[in-house]
Amino acid sequence: MKIVAVNGSPRIGWNTSSLVREAAKGAESQGAEVEIFDLYKLDKFTGCVSCFACKLPPNEGKCVCRDGLAPVLASIRNSDGLILGSPNYLGDVSAGFRSLYERLIFQSLTYKNEPRSYNDKKIPVLFIMTSNADKSYYPHIGYDAMLRGYQQTLGTFVGSTKLLIAGNTKQVRDYSRFDWTMFDTAAKDERHEKVFPVELKEAYDTGVKLVREPW
Ligand SMILES: Cc1cc2nc3c(=O)[nH]c(=O)nc-3n(C[C@H](O)[C@H](O)[C@H](O)COP(=O)(O)O)c2cc1C
Repeated sequence: MKIVAVNGSPRIGWNTSSLVREAAKGAESQGAEVEIFDLYKLDKFTGCVSCFACKLPPNEGKCVCRDGLAPVLASIRNSDGLILGSPNYLGDVSAGFRSLYERLIFQSLTYKNEPRSYNDKKIPVLFIMTSNADKSYYPHIGYDAMLRGYQQTLGTFVGSTKLLIAGNTKQVRDYSRFDWTMFDTAAKDERHEKVFPVELKEAYDTGVKLVREPW
């Protein structure tokens, strides 16, 4: 079984990439071959450039853009499961992640009534989001609805999607260097020490499930 894991945060070793890697480790522990991509380390790439070549024979269902995302899209096409992670940037995914999302989804969309997707192979997807906002705020600030949109669209064009949210993350190592008055930094540190490891474990366990009981 081949699993692709994509980190959509520029910060390697921080919240999103740690959760993505932990889920990847879980999948690996079950014998899966895992390929990890850090989007912000790839060669230059863009979102969809609206060439529509993915709707023309012989490319139907395949993005033809040859840039940093091409190997990621090719690996996803040959995979049996997908782990995606993005930090919340301004109430949505990061720009790098959104570029991947546009290219991944739009290549599969047919512009026909039936079938809606060129992709008849569905794979289970784990979508991880991290944010400064606590998970409990998600229903009140539109983040639940935003995530449901991603979940639904990924479900239609890639495969059934589980969500994992890690909110109230630690954003910087040393809050005292910044003039940030809105945070209880001791509470942030405590949460990072006590709750984040639980979230890492949840990511690992979900990675295990991705291989053992694909949804
Ligand atoms: C450009 C930018 C925009 C952000 N916007 C939001 C936001 O709208 N809502 C939120 O809850 N957190 C926001 N954050 C905080 C990040 O989502 C949060 O710190 C996340 O865990 C960072 O992930 P990382 O540690 O993997 O880089 C923002 C951070 C940055 C750098």
